[in-house]
Amino acid sequence: MTLPEGIERVLFTEEQVAARVMEVAAEIDRKYQGRDLKLIGVLKGSVFFLTALARALNVPVKIDFLAISSFGGGRAAQGMVRIAKDLDEPIQDEDVLLVEDIVDTGFTTRYLLQTLAGRGPRSLGICTLLDRNVRRIVQVPVDFRCFEIPDRFVVGCGLDCRQLYRNLGCIAVMNPDKQ
Ligand code: IMP
Ligand code: MG
Repeated sequence: MTLPEGIERVLFTEEQVAARVMEVAAEIDRKYQGRDLKLIGVLKGSVFFLTALARALNVPVKIDFLAISSFGGGRAAQGMVRIAKDLDEPIQDEDVLLVEDIVDTGFTTRYLLQTLAGRGPRSLGICTLLDRNVRRIVQVPVDFRCFEIPDRFVVGCGLDCRQLYRNLGCIAVMNPDKQ
């Protein structure tokens, strides 16, 4: 696939992403050995990562999705999200892994963790494709991460810029002029 104009450079190639997803899946397999695992994806950004991860796992996997919408606009609204589409099934007594595209400030993840924790899962972990720790405002316990990334806006592997580029196989830095 040729890179669209607007992309500045590739941060991780499709091959690097695929290899890293396999490594992280092996870590998850070790941790959840002998148990069933429910992967919860956050629409839409985590869909590509979640499906790749699910296919690489050996433990029995169930999947469910939720969608959130954030209240845009202004610092005061930062991190205020609400559930726009809830899970289809309860998670009571299940081993749950929240699968994220990126943990940035941490607000979204913290909100989701609090919400899901209130539903009585047996365990609740976080797995993210990307971790931008330099921008973290609220601390969240990330159990599995594929890549740590610098403070640049990225697209691909599910991450979008105005809903575009989610289907790029690589993870790429956007040209700031084209964002
Ligand atoms: P947080 O609440 O600040 O951690 O924001 C997380 C959400 O912001 C992610 O789920 C993404 O939808 C979006 N986001 C943050 N950084 C990027 C990026 O570099 N590219 C695309 N989306 C991003
Ligand atoms: Mg987005």
